[in-house]
Amino acid sequence: MKKILVVTYSQSGQLNEIVDNVVKTFNSDVQIVIEHLQPDPLFPFPWTNISFWDAMPDAVSLIPHKLKPFAFNPDEDFDLIMLGFPVWFLSPAIPMTSFLKSPEAAKVMKNKPVVTVIGARNMWVNAQEDIKKMIANNGGRLVGNIALRDKANNLSSVVTIIYWMMTAKKEKLWGIFPKPGISDEDIAAAARFGKPISESLTTGEFTELQQNLQSLGSIDLIPNVVFMELRGKKFFYKWAKFIRKKGEHGNPNRVGRLKMFKWYLLIAIFVASPIAILLFYLFLPLTWWNFRNKLAYFKGVDLNDELI
Ligand SMILES: Cc1cc2nc3c(=O)[nH]c(=O)nc-3n(C[C@H](O)[C@H](O)[C@H](O)COP(=O)(O)O)c2cc1C
Repeated sequence: MKKILVVTYSQSGQLNEIVDNVVKTFNSDVQIVIEHLQPDPLFPFPWTNISFWDAMPDAVSLIPHKLKPFAFNPDEDFDLIMLGFPVWFLSPAIPMTSFLKSPEAAKVMKNKPVVTVIGARNMWVNAQEDIKKMIANNGGRLVGNIALRDKANNLSSVVTIIYWMMTAKKEKLWGIFPKPGISDEDIAAAARFGKPISESLTTGEFTELQQNLQSLGSIDLIPNVVFMELRGKKFFYKWAKFIRKKGEHGNPNRVGRLKMFKWYLLIAIFVASPIAILLFYLFLPLTWWNFRNKLAYFKGVDLNDELI
C-alpha cells in the first residue's frame, strides 16, 4: 500500500478540481490523504478591492500567515507529497507559503519526493522558483511539476480574472470576454497526468517522472509572458518593501501605497507590456539562444537545478 499526502489551497475550488482529476486515476492500492489549507482568518472570496492588493507584499516577501490546525499527521511516513497551489502576484499563494514554512511541513517532507500542481492565469515561473527553495529547505526533492494556465490572450485574461476574483463568478463577462481561468476541458484533461505519477509511486522511481509528465504537456510556456514575468518580479520586491514600511498586512496606513501599486500594475500591464512584447520580438534573434536555455530550465528537465 502506497501513501500520498495531497496539500492544496484553492479559493474557487478550481485548483482542487485539477488535483482531484490527477489523483482519481491512481491505482486503488494508493491511499490518499488530502489536506485543504485554511488560513485563519480566511482571505475573502470574492475579494474586496483593497484586500486583493494587500495580499501582494506578504505573498512576494514569503511571509507566512496563521493557518487552521492541520488534519494530517506529520509523523506519518508518506511515499509522495503533492502540493497544489495558485499563484498570487508572481509568488506562491500565501497559504501555501505558510504551509511550507511550518514545522509540520519540514517534518513530513524530509527526504520525500514532491510533485507540484499549479493553477494560474499564465505567470507562474517565479512562484515555482520560490516553491523549489522552500521544498529544498524542508529536505524534500521536487520530482514533477504540472502547471495549468488560462489559455486566453494575456490582456483579456487580466480583465476576466479581475472580474472573477471580485465577483466570485467564473462566467463570461458581458458575454464577449472568454470564461475566466483554466478551461473546463483542461481541468478534465488533467486526469492524464495521474498515470505516470502512479507508475512512479508503484516502482519508487521518480527520475523520469518530469520527462513523462512533459511529454503529456504538463508545462506549456509562452515565451513573451515568461520574459515579462522575469522582469516584473524585481519591481514587485521593491513595491513590497515600500508598502511594508507603512505597516504589516491589514494596516490601514498602507492603503495609499497599495492604491499607488494598483495603478502602477494596471499601467504596466495595459500600456508598458505591449511595448515590451514588441521589443522582445525585435531583439529575439540576438537573445534567442540564452532565452531558449531559460525556457528549457523552467520546463524543468532537472527540477532541482539553479537558474542559469
Ligand atoms: C491575489 C491574487 C493574485 C494573483 N496573481 C497571479 C499572478 O501573478 N500570476 C498568475 O498567473 N495568476 C495570478 N492569479 C490567479 C491565480 O493564480 C488563480 O488562477 C486564481 O486565483 C484561481 O485560483 P483558485 O484555485 O484559488 O480559485 C492571482 C489571483 C489572486 C487572487
